[in-house]
Amino acid sequence: MDIKKIAVLGAGQMGNGIAHVCAQSGYEVKMRDIEQQFLDKGLATIKGNLDRMLKKSKITQVDADATLRRIKCVLDLKEAVKDADLVIEAIPEIVKLKLDTWKDVDAAAPASAILASNTSSISITQMAAVTKRPQKFIGMHFFNPVPVMGLVEIIKGQATDDATVDVIKAVATKVGKQTVVVKEAPGFAVNRLLVPALNEAVFAIQEGITTVEDMDLAIKLGLNWPMGPLTLLDFVGLDTALYIADYFVDEFKDSKYRAPALLRKMVRAGWLGRKSGRGFYDYSTNPPKPGRF
Ligand code: 3HC
Repeated sequence: MDIKKIAVLGAGQMGNGIAHVCAQSGYEVKMRDIEQQFLDKGLATIKGNLDRMLKKSKITQVDADATLRRIKCVLDLKEAVKDADLVIEAIPEIVKLKLDTWKDVDAAAPASAILASNTSSISITQMAAVTKRPQKFIGMHFFNPVPVMGLVEIIKGQATDDATVDVIKAVATKVGKQTVVVKEAPGFAVNRLLVPALNEAVFAIQEGITTVEDMDLAIKLGLNWPMGPLTLLDFVGLDTALYIADYFVDEFKDSKYRAPALLRKMVRAGWLGRKSGRGFYDYSTNPPKPGRF
């Protein structure tokens, strides 16, 4: 199957990154969100990232202009998916919202279209089951920041067929990513490892064994991570990490995945990381100031 037109649902952190790399690789993209302000913000982020790449001579002005020309911003869901060969969903991690959206997409998209979710944890099989094409439903998990990170995890639901996996592998390769295929399981491969590691960093802070900046420095230098775990939590979003940890406990029925109380308290306080201006660091200062816990 030849993919030419891609609908990306959600213009947020992940959605605009996915729209960016798809358009830059030559796909016609419709980026859809529910409010014009979200589309405007997503498009502004794409323009900013293209400018940065242009300044570093990673792309030419012609590439940047062509990329932007290939992205159409759309508010109406039916309009977004009606002629799509592939729909990639990157909307908030709320099960009911995902299931309702997939029912609507299934009714409006061509029968031949492949449906892919960028979920970081929700069951592919559960989402596939609300559509009439579970064999064409698949997980396509990108990493933040999408234009930089080199991996796409491909997740096979219970009914996903091999032909769909092959098409998604080809699309991911065309957008410059390497792929791993994972059978459906909570957190797939990367988050299964990452989320318990991030939890453990927070437990260490909660127990007072070290400071935020020293834990980050230890892991950056000791394990050669590009960011320490608490900086990474602020980057990913504390609410996202907490959601995944709670989902793991529900799905695995194993308390080893439990989230630390400190993480939950910070989310309740609205300290979600960079996006809210405060998490383990305070982003109102430059450089950000580490918090004391
Ligand atoms: N778009 C395009 N390019 C970008 C970018 C963006 N949004 N952000 C950074 N870059 C580029 C920069 O231009 C720079 O390019 P260069 O190497 O050619 O100069 C390069 O990336 C490095 O950026 P910076 O020099 O500005 O900053 P850093 O060296 O600190 O790198 C980082 C930033 C790439 C974010 C790096 O810190 C990193 O890799 N962090 C870890 C990110 C990570 O772990 N992501 C996965 C999160 S988990 C996830 O997404 C799964 C979900 O389900 C939870």
